[in-house]
Formats: sequence, C-alpha cells, structure tokens
Amino acid sequence: MNPITLSTTLFLLLVTAINATTFSTDILALKSIKSGINPTTIPPYSCLASWNFTSDPCSNPHFTHFLCGLSCSNNRVTQLTFDRAGYSGTLSPLVSQLTQLITIDLSDNKLSGPIPISLFSLPNLRTLNLRSNSFSGTIPPALSGLKTIETLDISHNLLTGALPDSLSQLGLTRLDLSFNKIKGLIPKLPRNLIELALRSNLLSGYLQSASFTELTQLEVVELGDNSLTGTIPGWFFLLPSLQQVNIANNKFTGIEILKPVNSNLIAVDAGYNKITGYLSANFSNYPMLSSLTLRYNKLHGPIPTEYSTLKRLFLDGNYLNGMPPKEFFSGKSSVSGSLGDNCLKSCPVSSELCLKSQKSLAICQQAYGGKVKQKS
Ligand SMILES: *[C@@H]1O[C@H](CO)[C@@H](O)[C@H](O)[C@H]1NC(C)=O
Ligand SMILES: *[C@@H]1O[C@H](CO)[C@@H](O)[C@H](O)[C@H]1NC(C)=O
Repeated sequence: MNPITLSTTLFLLLVTAINATTFSTDILALKSIKSGINPTTIPPYSCLASWNFTSDPCSNPHFTHFLCGLSCSNNRVTQLTFDRAGYSGTLSPLVSQLTQLITIDLSDNKLSGPIPISLFSLPNLRTLNLRSNSFSGTIPPALSGLKTIETLDISHNLLTGALPDSLSQLGLTRLDLSFNKIKGLIPKLPRNLIELALRSNLLSGYLQSASFTELTQLEVVELGDNSLTGTIPGWFFLLPSLQQVNIANNKFTGIEILKPVNSNLIAVDAGYNKITGYLSANFSNYPMLSSLTLRYNKLHGPIPTEYSTLKRLFLDGNYLNGMPPKEFFSGKSSVSGSLGDNCLKSCPVSSELCLKSQKSLAICQQAYGGKVKQKS
C-alpha cells in the first residue's frame, strides 16, 4: 500500500468513525443501565468496566472501550449481553429506549428488584434471558407487549404472584420460568410453544385442556416440583408433538393413559405424586416411549407384560403386586431401573431391577385390605 492510499484509507476510517455515532437516546439508556449497577461489583476486566462514555458505544473498532456487553447495528444498540461478572444492582427502566434491541441476556448475575415494566414495550425483542439473577415482583400483564418475543427465560429468580392471562398472546416458542415462587393456576399458554418449563414453583390446580389446547408444537414439558392436583388427563399425553414430560413431585392423584393414533412421546416422569389405581397397559401403544417413571406413588396391581419393551422403568415405592413379567429377566429385555419397595412376589434378587427389597408382608396386607397374601 503506498503512502497516499494509506492516508486516504485512514482518512476514510476516521470519517466513518465520526459519522458512526450512536443515537443519543441509546447513549443515555446505556449510561443509565451502567449506573444502575453497583460499581463495587464491576470487576476491572469485565464488559461493564470497559463502558467508558468518552468513546462512542457503537463506533468501531473498539480498542479499550466498549469491548463487550453490547452490539450495534446502524448506530443503534441491538444486543445487550452482559458477561457473568456477578454484577449486582437494578435494571434501569431506560432500557426501553433501546428500541432496536433484539437480544437481552443478563443471565448469571445478581441483579435484583422488579423487572422494569417499560422493558415489556420493546418492539423488536426476540430473546429475553434474565436467568439466574434475583429479580423479584410479579410478572405483569404488560408482558404481552413483547410482540416479537420468541425465547423468554427468567428461571432461577425470585418472581412471585400468578402467571398473567396475557401470556397466551405471545408468540413464544421457549418459556422458562422454573425455580421461582410463582403460584396459582396455569393459564392459557402461548400456542407456538415448543418448550415449557415451570419447574420448582408453587403452581396448583388441575392440568386443564384450556391451557394446552392448540399447542400442537409442544415437545418438552417441565412442571415438576409444584403442587398440581387431580388426575393427569389422557388428552395431555396425546398432544401431537409431545416428547418429554416431567410432572414429578406434585400432588397428582391419578393418571389416565389413552391410546394414541400417533405419538412421539419418549419419556414420562410422574414420580413422587399420590397416584392411585392400576398401571395402564396403554403405555405400550406409545411407539417411541423408552423411559417411564412412576416411582413413589400409590399404585396397586400387577406390572403389565407390555412394559418389557421400555429401556428405563422406575416403579419402586408403590404397592404393585403379583409376579413381575418374566420377560424382564429373560435377557430379551434390556430394561433398567427399579421395581423395589413394592409388594411383588418373587422379584429375583439376581436382577438389578430387584435390588431394593420389597415391602413387608404387614404393609402389603394392609394395602390390600388384608385380602391378598404376598410374600417377597
Ligand atoms: C475513560 O477514558 C478516558 C480516556 O481514555 C480516561 O481518561 C478516563 O480515565 C476513563 N474513565 C474511566 C472511568 O475509566
Ligand atoms: C386405554 O385406552 C382406551 C382408548 O384410548 C381407553 O378407552 C381405555 O380406558 C384405556 N385403558 C386403560 C386401562 O388405561
């Protein structure tokens, strides 16, 4: 490169840099966001430490200032992505001035206080990830203002209150609000959902078809560790795209299994509930099903022979009786898991499935009203 070309190039670079100045409202918003963070929690080598407003946030290249934590396009901030530096403080309501934001990811920090309501008016936001912080307060109905949202993850925070009914208006495909203190009923859910995770909250009430109707793309459901009640209804397992279900550790008292026309269901965990009744052989009509857990419920009666096609089967901690299907032990079946702590007759201890011993005769006689004689 000759000297003239070089100086022209430098000149052009300089002009570009001068022209490329961030929208003033975006700068104000960024300043406000940084000042919401407790300065003692901004380590010297973190992204936020490099936010020095003597430089322009969006102008490139960055050598010492604005090294990370944001991305721009056409002089507007499009991504706010904090590093996991352990920042504490609050999120400034002025974040809503960053109207070109597509992604917010502030996960794995220590931000607290309510999520500013103004944030829910961002017109282009597709991803909101506030996972693993200390945000508190309720999820306001204003949430439905996020017209373009696809992924919402506010899991592992301190959210309280009920899920707003306006949730169903969102075009979300992934929703994760697990590990909060959200209570009440499950409202009507967004119809485009592929993944629903509401694990470890205080949700109660029945699984209602009104919540799940039209959810034809739903593949993964995580509702474990709540206080849901009633019978797990048959239609639930017939949701056409369903693959994985975890509804363990609730207060369900029954489970209904209908024969599907077609099903992609792979794994069901309904352990640690209060499910009574008999095991349904209808589970064998789910062609992809390979893992079934119904451990620590109150199930009675025999284990259907059809279950020997499963790969993982945990039925321990119930009152199942009779002889376990001999297919389990014939070498033809590759099922692993546990059948222990039941009222089964001759569960061969040579099998790993039977390692945990069966319940005492007295407990089993009581469970069957003293009528059925069982010996382990
Ligand atoms: C910001 O950058 C300027 C110029 O490089 C420097 O003088 C100043 O000390 C920096 N401010 C902070 C808070 O680091
Ligand atoms: C099995 O499925 C059929 C049809 O879906 C249903 O009518 C029946 O009650 C189910 N039986 C059991 C034992 O779950």
